[in-house]
Amino acid sequence: MDESKNILEMRNITVTYDDDEDSIPILNKLDFNVEKGKTVLLMGHNGCGKSTLLRTVIGLLKPHKGGEILFDGEPVRKKSLEKRVHLGMTYLSQYGGVFPSLTVKDNLEAANDYDNFWSLFLTKEKKIQHKERMDKVLGTFPTLKDILGKRVHKLSGGQKKLVAFAMRTMLPSKLIMLDEPTAGLDAARAQELMDTMQAVVKESGKTVLIVEHRLNLMQWVDLVAVLREGRIATLETDTSKLDDSDWLKKYYV
Ligand SMILES: Nc1ncnc2c1ncn2[C@@H]1O[C@H](COP(=O)(O)OP(=O)(O)OP(=O)(O)O)[C@@H](O)[C@H]1O
Ligand SMILES: [Mg+2]
Repeated sequence: MDESKNILEMRNITVTYDDDEDSIPILNKLDFNVEKGKTVLLMGHNGCGKSTLLRTVIGLLKPHKGGEILFDGEPVRKKSLEKRVHLGMTYLSQYGGVFPSLTVKDNLEAANDYDNFWSLFLTKEKKIQHKERMDKVLGTFPTLKDILGKRVHKLSGGQKKLVAFAMRTMLPSKLIMLDEPTAGLDAARAQELMDTMQAVVKESGKTVLIVEHRLNLMQWVDLVAVLREGRIATLETDTSKLDDSDWLKKYYV
């Protein structure tokens, strides 16, 4: 395959949480490619290592020696989290992803100000760009307009998820990694968030790697990857497999 087609390549990646050489690694010589512009669902049972995989890609966890992670063709295994974000990775953790003590507006401003963090001296051009980005995000997430002045720790779980996701859409990323963005939401709110997500993804053409257990919401993805026993067990382009109970039994249960 032409390497430049992939935004992400994980090659022979092994990750453990302890130093015990004999323990079974969570990611075990894993190979995984994500093609540019695709939306990929990463699934697998609880504890199989999905969050571990995302944390490894963003740089929160260090893999064992010997493997490599390529981001847009560039080796990043030895690069810091900050450098990876700078290169164009965005990550939304399974829990959190917001500044709880700040207001919704300040959370959005923090994301908006990624290129000039908290600077008091914005150029006129930057001020215009900031306003445009803020107007855009409030156009995409109109319900945030009513709660801009609220502190995030006082919001419901669903509202927090929305703020966290809205912030991620403001960053100029090439790859958005979302760890269970709809967890804890009721069916209607989850559907709403997924619809918004789909619209944002379509408009931006960004690559998305999303972990979700809510399979019925994921019919719009391009590919389904299943993580099992430390490796990608299958990478399916036929997402109607999610309706196939034999397939689900084989790979998911
Ligand atoms: N900080 C940690 N220290 C030690 N072990 C951990 C840590 N975080 C996760 N693990 C272990 O690593 C394994 C994979 O965890 P991970 O959170 O990646 O799974 P997951 O697929 O995201 O699960 P879920 O669907 O429940 O979110 C689990 O066995 C878990 O107990
Ligand atoms: Mg997880």
